[in-house]
Order: sequence, then C-alpha cells, then structure tokens
Amino acid sequence: MTKLPLSGQTALVTGGARRIGAAIVRALHTAGAKVIIHYHHSHEQATALATQLNEERAYSAFLVSADLQRGDLSAMMQQVLSYDNGLDILINNASLFYPTYLDWNETAAQAFMQVNAFAPYQLSLLAKVALEKRQGTIVNLVDIHAEKPLRDYGLYSQSKAALRQQTLSLAKEFAPHIRVNAVAPGAILWPEDKAVLTEDQKAVLLKNIPSERLGTAEEIAEAVLYLASAGYVTGVILPVEGGRLLGK
Ligand SMILES: NC(=O)c1ccc[n+]([C@@H]2O[C@H](COP(=O)([O-])OP(=O)(O)OC[C@H]3O[C@@H](n4cnc5c(N)ncnc54)[C@H](OP(=O)(O)O)[C@@H]3O)[C@@H](O)[C@H]2O)c1
Repeated sequence: MTKLPLSGQTALVTGGARRIGAAIVRALHTAGAKVIIHYHHSHEQATALATQLNEERAYSAFLVSADLQRGDLSAMMQQVLSYDNGLDILINNASLFYPTYLDWNETAAQAFMQVNAFAPYQLSLLAKVALEKRQGTIVNLVDIHAEKPLRDYGLYSQSKAALRQQTLSLAKEFAPHIRVNAVAPGAILWPEDKAVLTEDQKAVLLKNIPSERLGTAEEIAEAVLYLASAGYVTGVILPVEGGRLLGK
C-alpha cells in the first residue's frame, strides 16, 4: 500500500467541528494524519465527524473541547499532547466574526483579541517544544481583511491583522525547527447569525470578485494542506480569494 503524505503525523484543528475547520480536518485525515478536533459549542458535529473518521481508520480522530476565550489552554494542550505523545501540525482556525461598527464595547474587544489572536499565540507557545521535536508546523487562518479592513468589522479586522503579524513573528522566532504560515481566505462560506448578509449584499459582493463565485471550504483546506507539507515555506500568508483583493 502507498504511504500517505501525512501518515504518522498528528494534527490539531481548532474550531474543527464544522464549516472550514471540518473541511481542514477531513483533508488532513485523507492525507493520512491523525486528527484532534477541537470544538466549543459544536459537540454533536464534532462527535459525528470523529465517529465517521474513526470508522474509516480506527484510532485516527480524537476530540478536545475548550472555550478559547475563558478556558484553560494549558490543560487543553496537555490533553492534545497526550493522544499521540506529541504534535506535528497545529491549525489555528477557530474564530469570532460579527460587526461591531464604531461602538466601543470592551467585552467584544477582549473577546475578538483573545479568540482570534491571543489564543492562537498561547496555543503556539504551549505546543512549541512538542512541535520542535517533530520538525512541526503551524498554519493560521487569517483573512484578506487583515490587510484590507472590512467596513463595520473593525475589531475583527484588527484581531486578524494581529494574527497575520503573529504568523510572521513566530515564523522568525520558531525557525529553524517549526514553520509558521497562514492562509488568508476571501469570501468562502456566507457568515451566520449576527453577521448574516441580505441577498442584495451577497450579489454585490460576488459581482466584485474576479472569479465570480465564492471559494469552497475544500479549496481553503487544500491551501492549508499545501502549507502543512511545504518543507521550505515559512512566513508566508497565502491569499485564497479568487482575485478579490485585486478587484474588477
Ligand atoms: N467563512 C469565510 O468565508 C471566511 C473568510 C475569511 C476568513 N475566514 C477564516 O477562516 C476560518 C474558518 O472560517 P469559518 O467561517 O468556518 O469559521 P466560523 O464558522 O466563524 O468559526 C469556526 C469555529 O470557531 C469556534 N469558536 C468561536 N469562538 C470560540 C471560542 N470562544 N472558543 C472555542 N472555539 C470558538 C466555533 O466552534 P464551535 O462551533 O465548536 O463553538 C466555530 O465553529 C476562521 O478563522 C475565519 O476567520 C473565513
């Protein structure tokens, strides 16, 4: 049987139960990795995904639950490292996304910075020794709006800009043993809940993307997989956005 590219490796994906996170989990698993699916509220989806992956390959999917805003990240990382006595790949995917306009809201400000920027930083530092031992890698999910801010989403844009800079900073600080990169998605899956768009807003957005369509979660997972495997690539922010930054 041919050896899969990531066989023998273990990956943690934060926010891995649904949407883009779940596509990343599937892609890493298909490439042969054992996957640790982190979730907060999506217990059912996380359990269903792990069950399906374990049916495909026994003992290949594990679960860890933690609130990245208020939880004990050190305890979370201990549990993560206990599954395979180490870690090869850390994917910081979990994120908050909703408009905050120009209102000052301290609770929201802290939540955005903690979940979108500081939790990835804490997890990266907590995983450093384990990743070093296996010449591991980190991939962060940023956003094209880390560079070009999204109107009404000031706190979100600032938190992703922090994560973008963190990616570059850690690529330098963690070299030469750990590579650190990021994928910057454009419009992939329509936002939910407080960030939901009207049909008119969706049409305007699509009209301004040169590729004239949304990207897919699988296309983001493909980019993550590339960065996780590209041995001479570090400190790169890879936009996957159908030309949206260029505009029409
Ligand atoms: N969707 C897009 O078009 C798009 C565009 C640009 C960038 N991105 C980036 O790509 C990544 C994935 O996007 P997405 O739309 O799939 O993300 P999402 O659905 O908005 O969020 C992913 C997961 O983050 C987790 N999360 C949120 N707050 C948390 C907390 N306090 N503690 C622990 N987990 C928490 C949630 O897990 P639970 O459900 O388990 O609570 C959620 O399912 C994100 O980093 C996002 O910023 C996405």
